[in-house]
Amino acid sequence: MADLGLIHRPRRLRASAQLRTLVRENHIRKEHLILPLFVSEKISAPAEVKSMPGVHQHTESSLIEEALCAHSAGVPAILLFGIPAHKDASASQAYDPNGIVQRTVRALKKAAPKLVIITDVCLCEFMHHGHCGVTRFDGERHHIAHVDNDASVELLCKTAVSHAAAGADIVAPSDMMDGRIGAMRRSLDLAGFQNTPILSYAAKFASAFYGPFRDAAESAPQAGDRKSYQMDPANGAEALREVALDVQEGADMVMVKPGLPYLDVVWRVKERFQMPTVAYHVSGEYSMLMAAAANGWIDRKACLLETMTAFKRAGADLVITYAAKQVAAWLSEDQG
Ligand code: PBG
Repeated sequence: MADLGLIHRPRRLRASAQLRTLVRENHIRKEHLILPLFVSEKISAPAEVKSMPGVHQHTESSLIEEALCAHSAGVPAILLFGIPAHKDASASQAYDPNGIVQRTVRALKKAAPKLVIITDVCLCEFMHHGHCGVTRFDGERHHIAHVDNDASVELLCKTAVSHAAAGADIVAPSDMMDGRIGAMRRSLDLAGFQNTPILSYAAKFASAFYGPFRDAAESAPQAGDRKSYQMDPANGAEALREVALDVQEGADMVMVKPGLPYLDVVWRVKERFQMPTVAYHVSGEYSMLMAAAANGWIDRKACLLETMTAFKRAGADLVITYAAKQVAAWLSEDQG
């Protein structure tokens, strides 16, 4: 074949591993990983979540073990979810100073003072109906008529303050009520927690990819869905408006959730706001990948590392993933 006379041959820089490494633009590092963990008041031994291979509901002590193990693998932060033994209509266990989350945070702080503890602030795991806020019923049929925004915000603020009081390093409201970031900032400040940052689940979509999480957190809505508070998956411009509000109200970091199907949103949010931006590789994304890998259809390590790199390329600073411990271990091996 004759020489094509090409000036540009992008393949020149792909010819060897050394050249490829030299021009690699984005890197996932252990320091960018956040591991979600579930602590349950209802169990006496860790229980694997059926729809999430490798993920467990933990007892307080097994959670601490798992957190220490992830920390020593290089994971700098965890995101804590609690499953209470008792649920009610006012989510009282969410803001009980001796609730499962608050107790676990205190114990974790002692066991691993340098591990960053982020607490998920939401009511769904604590409400008997599984919604993320206070519900109002229609008179006749006792169907849930709506989720009351402002009443919910009040309880969310109490919850965030109780987490900060227990020692949480960062609070992360995931409820998607309007005005909760501003209200939470004021509540935290009034209680003396001016220096507790808020990681806002700023653009959180009403996604079908949360299915396995609701098994893990026992938080599925008993009736209806979350579409009146979480965003329509079809909307990108609205995500920017949501993030703008949270930034104005005092969010220190912003999150886009889910992750891979919403990389365009991650990119737009990072470009527009230049905030510390977090992508949540959610339960359904994790489980799909694990299921395909278990069948031998895809390579688990290669796909997970590619996924993490894609988040960085899209502009995410940090990635929340159930595979954080494993990814950190792989990154150490590959570097070492
Ligand atoms: C609670 C909450 C959810 C997730 C994080 N916090 C579930 C939901 O909104 O129904 C989902 C996380 C995941 O799927 O991994 N509001």
